[in-house]
Amino acid sequence: MKVGNRYYRSIWLSEDGWSVEIIDQTCLPHEFVICRLDSLEKAAHAISAMQVRGAPLIGATAAYGLCLALREDSSDEALDKAAAELLATRPTAVNLHWALERMKTALLPLPAAERVTKAYEVAAAICDEDAALNEAIGSHGLSLLQAAAARKRPGERLNILTHCNAGWLATVDWGTALAPIYKAHDLGIDLHVWVDETRPRNQGASLTAWELAGHSVPHSVIVDNAGGHLMQNGMVDLCIVGTDRTAANGDVCNKIGTYLKALAAHDNGIPFYIALPSPTIDWGMEKGVGHVPIEERAPEEVSHVRGLDRKGVLREVSLLPDGSQAANYAFDVTPAKYVTGLVTELGVCEASRNGLEGLFHSRAV
Ligand code: MRU
Repeated sequence: MKVGNRYYRSIWLSEDGWSVEIIDQTCLPHEFVICRLDSLEKAAHAISAMQVRGAPLIGATAAYGLCLALREDSSDEALDKAAAELLATRPTAVNLHWALERMKTALLPLPAAERVTKAYEVAAAICDEDAALNEAIGSHGLSLLQAAAARKRPGERLNILTHCNAGWLATVDWGTALAPIYKAHDLGIDLHVWVDETRPRNQGASLTAWELAGHSVPHSVIVDNAGGHLMQNGMVDLCIVGTDRTAANGDVCNKIGTYLKALAAHDNGIPFYIALPSPTIDWGMEKGVGHVPIEERAPEEVSHVRGLDRKGVLREVSLLPDGSQAANYAFDVTPAKYVTGLVTELGVCEASRNGLEGLFHSRAV
């Protein structure tokens, strides 16, 4: 996507042809900082510290992390050790596991001397495919937005609610939930996005708002608890969010708070869509509720907030009284029954095993 006058992906190969560059998402929205990753350790750190985040981008970064590791040592042992280190960075997004397995499947049968070249080829393919899958999601989701816009009265805009950041920053390009929004906006559909701030790390306020502003998409940031009120009062036509892992039965794991939005949407008869590329489907997980490993992060992400003060100085301030503890569950699982449809690269399907198998016959196990 465009930033100023330049097109960026969220990750790319440096001019040296072997190290990797990323946009450090911990610095957004106030600073646009590009960071160079030239070792396995830096790639693993970028994922665990959330310089890169979002399920598809985590997978793409891990793939390049393996490339960087293999440059040092391309033996079987080194490959396994590097993959294990990368896998341990974040537990919830299945794309991480998927990307590492795809790399290992391509690399292990090769003699060690041929692995580095092949690793870069596969990592580049993972990135290019992710951008293409998300663009296809954008086209399928666009049809849903066009249909919803057609139901509006003349002069009324379409109001869409989203949670967390499932835009181009969370993927290699386009985004999942935001791809249809970009396409609809570009076609001139009069729309407005309610952006959940998405505590504790505020990916909505910091990243989704930054993306939408950069693309001139009308939007308003709201506190996480505002969605129910807006839905009750006819101010939301449709919700669309991303996912970090979708179980084979259509249960959807996404950023904490997604479940509550789905409940409010259900209570108010508002469609609740999930946008996902197929690497986010965990075919081996029969049910999501109670089974997806839910990341627990540092309590300081809850107890403290970070931002610019009125003088433009970056500060971190505490919200809690001395002696209070914080708990930081990063994801929740929305049962399939509250999901109106899954928007994938192959089309929109019911959130169920039947729905997913109907689209992805050969891949279901
Ligand atoms: O903790 P994060 O920022 O990695 O969480 C990201 C999300 O929850 C996104 O909604 C999800 O990865 C889908 S992104 C296409």
